[in-house]
Order: sequence, then C-alpha cells, then structure tokens
Amino acid sequence: MRHFLTLKDFSKAELLEMIALAAKIKKQTKAHQFVPYLEHQTLGMIFEKSSTRTRVSFETGIYQLGGAGLFLSSRDIQLGRGEPMKDTARVISRMVDMVMIRTFEQSKLEEFATHSKVPVINGLTDSYHPVQLMTDYLTMVEFGKADTPVVAYIGDGNNMAHSWLMLASKLGFELRIATPAGYACDAEIVAEAEAFAKESGAKLRFGNDPVQAVTGCDVVTTDTWVSMGQEEEKEQRLKDFAGYMVDETLMGHAKSDAIFLHCLPAYREYEVSEETFEKHAEVIFTEAENRLHAQKGIMVWLDAKRSEEVGSRK
Ligand code: CP
Ligand code: NVA
Repeated sequence: MRHFLTLKDFSKAELLEMIALAAKIKKQTKAHQFVPYLEHQTLGMIFEKSSTRTRVSFETGIYQLGGAGLFLSSRDIQLGRGEPMKDTARVISRMVDMVMIRTFEQSKLEEFATHSKVPVINGLTDSYHPVQLMTDYLTMVEFGKADTPVVAYIGDGNNMAHSWLMLASKLGFELRIATPAGYACDAEIVAEAEAFAKESGAKLRFGNDPVQAVTGCDVVTTDTWVSMGQEEEKEQRLKDFAGYMVDETLMGHAKSDAIFLHCLPAYREYEVSEETFEKHAEVIFTEAENRLHAQKGIMVWLDAKRSEEVGSRK
C-alpha cells in the first residue's frame, strides 16, 4: 500500500500525475462541481504540533470530496498520554480510510505507517513537509514557473529545505540553497537527493551566500528561522540568521519576473521583509489556498492506488 511520507518514495511521473489531478479537481471546485471522489470516507488527522493551513485544508478538502475529517490533537487523544504510536495506528486505521499526521520525528510517522491498514500522509515532520512542496509546485505551474526553473531557497536547512531537495532532485530542476554556517541541510538527505539528481539531471547547489543563490533565479523562497519544537533556540537563531532576510535588495538579483513563495506562517522583518512579503502577497496566498487543491490530488491518488491493490471499497 502506498503512503505519502516523503517525496523520495515517488517517481517523477507519479508526482506529476498527482499535480495534474490536483489541477483538475481545483478547476472542478472553482466551477462548483464537487465530485465525490472519496464519498463516505473518513480522514483521521493527528496533530502533535500546531497548524492553521494543514488542518483547514485537509478538513475542508476531505469534506469537498464527499468524506469527513476527524481532528485528533495529541492533547486530547491517548497518544498524548503515552499510548504507543503502533497501538494508535492499529486502532485508528481500522476505523478510518486515510490518516494524516503532523509530528516530530519522521520515525514516528513511519512507525504509524508500518502498523496502519490505510494510507498515511505526512502533514509535516521535523525532516520533511512534502504536501507543502506539492502545493508549491502546483503554484509554480500556475504562475508559469515550472518549466526548467531555477529555485533559490534562503535560510534554515530544515524540513522545507529537505523537501525542496527531494522535489528538485525528482523533477530535475536547479535548486540553490543558501544557509548560514551551522544550519546546513542534513547530510544523509543531501546524499539521497544527489543520487536522485544524477538520474533526473537536477542541479543542486549549496552555499552560504544568499546573493549568489538568488542571482538570475525564477523562484525565491524561504521559511521561518525557528521551526516548531525549536522555540528554546530562538534567541541564538535570530542572531545566527542575520543577513539572510529576503528583501527587495536581495530580490533585485533574481530575474525581474521572479516569484516569491512562502509556506507560511511568515515572520516579517526576520526571514522576509514586510515590503517583499506584501509585494508577492497574491502568489503567497494562492500558494496557501493551493494546499486545499494539492492535497485533494494526493488523497484521490492514494485512494486510487489502494483500490487497485486491495480492491475498491465502493
Ligand atoms: N504551511 C503550513 O503547513 O502551515 P500550518 O503550520 O499552519 O499548517
Ligand atoms: N519549518 C516550519 C514549517 C512550518 C509550516 C516548521 O517546521 O515549523
């Protein structure tokens, strides 16, 4: 059974299939055509971290597909009081049709998937945020930036940077990552991405110079300098990331029609200036809306694969 735990588990053709499905369902939704692709199905949504977009988009998405979402905060379910992940998986996956999890270690997500009878979707871990990257790619397609783009990621070598590495290395485009010393991407993830890049022709570049990364690029992106779970490091991080803000001076080195993406939430005057953020607000909030559409594509795709393997539940 296929899960959606990281982008590295998919071929380029599969990722593009999900994007095409997302675009089709978005078009239908905009025309108020609510096709019940997942009629009577329930999506369990386990959250061990906060969320605005992930919760609203998955809950609305499954509803618009004819199903229902169950919001399961670890503050309220027995998982938060120490019930093992594998027992939680064995219970919940007997009752629902698909599960989305936002948690800390990628290994916790993998443990759940190992014991789950239904497809599991990564709604963000410390290592990856793959549904966000599918969203970002859908947004690039819509804004005409998906054809051999050069993308610059400025900031922390975190879950977003890792997911950009997987997207670029699978799809075969150029990604330049500029991080401060001490905040580079995980070496194992980089090595895996480099191996995929050899096959796809992707160019992956790493450095500490935001200007070098941004020069002549089509897409500029960044993320918070203090991810969920790193609150205690905040003071140190704000010092270490000085000089890595994406502002109009830095954007001036990109192509004149470059777009700026941000997964949100954004912290103005830290990773992005107020001016740059507001200048690109239309793209940024289309990107936020696209969480809804991209994830519908992923859920419908996973359900179709599951039906192929274990038979339709309809
Ligand atoms: N971008 C993103 O995942 O947002 P939330 O944390 O609000 O879900
Ligand atoms: N890197 C951020 C992404 C938030 C959507 C975090 O993990 O908190």
